[in-house]
Amino acid sequence: MKILLLGSSGLLGSDCKEVLSKDNQVIAPSKDELDIISWDGVINELHNISPDVIINCAAFTDVDACETEPFAVRKTNVEGPRNLAQGSARFKCRLVHISSDYVFRGQKGIPQPYFEDDPTDPISAYGASKLDSEIAVRENSPNYIILRTGWLYGIHRNDFINSVLVNALKRKSKSIKVVDDQVGSPTWSYRVALQIKELLNTDVKGTFHTTSEGFCSRLECAQFIFDKLKVKTILESCCLSDFQNGAKRPRNCILENRLLKTLGLNIMKDWKEDLNEYLEKYGKELLKQAKSARK
Ligand SMILES: NC(=O)c1ccc[n+]([C@@H]2O[C@H](COP(=O)([O-])OP(=O)(O)OC[C@H]3O[C@@H](n4cnc5c(N)ncnc54)[C@H](OP(=O)(O)O)[C@@H]3O)[C@@H](O)[C@H]2O)c1
Repeated sequence: MKILLLGSSGLLGSDCKEVLSKDNQVIAPSKDELDIISWDGVINELHNISPDVIINCAAFTDVDACETEPFAVRKTNVEGPRNLAQGSARFKCRLVHISSDYVFRGQKGIPQPYFEDDPTDPISAYGASKLDSEIAVRENSPNYIILRTGWLYGIHRNDFINSVLVNALKRKSKSIKVVDDQVGSPTWSYRVALQIKELLNTDVKGTFHTTSEGFCSRLECAQFIFDKLKVKTILESCCLSDFQNGAKRPRNCILENRLLKTLGLNIMKDWKEDLNEYLEKYGKELLKQAKSARK
């Protein structure tokens, strides 16, 4: 299969490149080589390489910055996917587009999960842009897969794990505060890349929830990481509302992979199993990085 992969320097895109390059020809231009907001750029690239599949992991992902940079976020998160969707229609290729748990309001009672067909109602500029990206893809691409994921971590970019480790190891105080009233499913980007590979072996279309099984709060996730890596810093709970300046975030980010399960295609694992494997593999490296970030 010939795959055009966008966003390959990012958290998920890097793992997609690694996983999919084993059995496919993956063409992965950098943002400088192909900016998805350029219609001419997208069309020229599709004309030149005629891919079977486009995978779009490119996005403006700084949730707080999205609130203050509405023009840039609409360009990257809505116009870019629309260009790719229209391009996929013109060149008759499949489009895999990544969306987010932040398309939901997050007010369902915990532990009720969100299903693929639940009403969307984003509460942030980022969430609204991801919802509009989905609409642009559905309206313009006849052969699309939209994967909604959330709480991604992975070795190729800074994430929640780096953030709590750096905070714990750089601070002189013995404790750090982590949010306890937001729940979701920490999801390994490598596992999502494997799930994409699985879906590409089928001819399914539609919108799929794709997160780890099970859920936890941010605080419980941080505690799991500290226990596993034997970090002694004490974790204190705080609330989403303690952060007044940033974007609003949904409290309940639990997604049920109902469609993947119905089709017998769900390969996502329990969040603890994957996080344990990830920390076994990369824990020493992550601690080293966090300690050197101190200087
Ligand atoms: N991270 C999460 O927890 C999370 C949760 C839910 C959904 N998602 C979704 O998952 C997808 C991947 O997220 P991620 O965390 O892997 O993102 P990321 O690490 O921030 O990477 C974003 C990628 O997009 C590229 N990019 C940005 N603007 C571009 C443009 N105009 N044209 C071409 N490339 C562009 C970036 O290139 P440069 O490196 O050159 O800037 C980078 O490679 C996104 O759709 C995101 O909304 C992420």
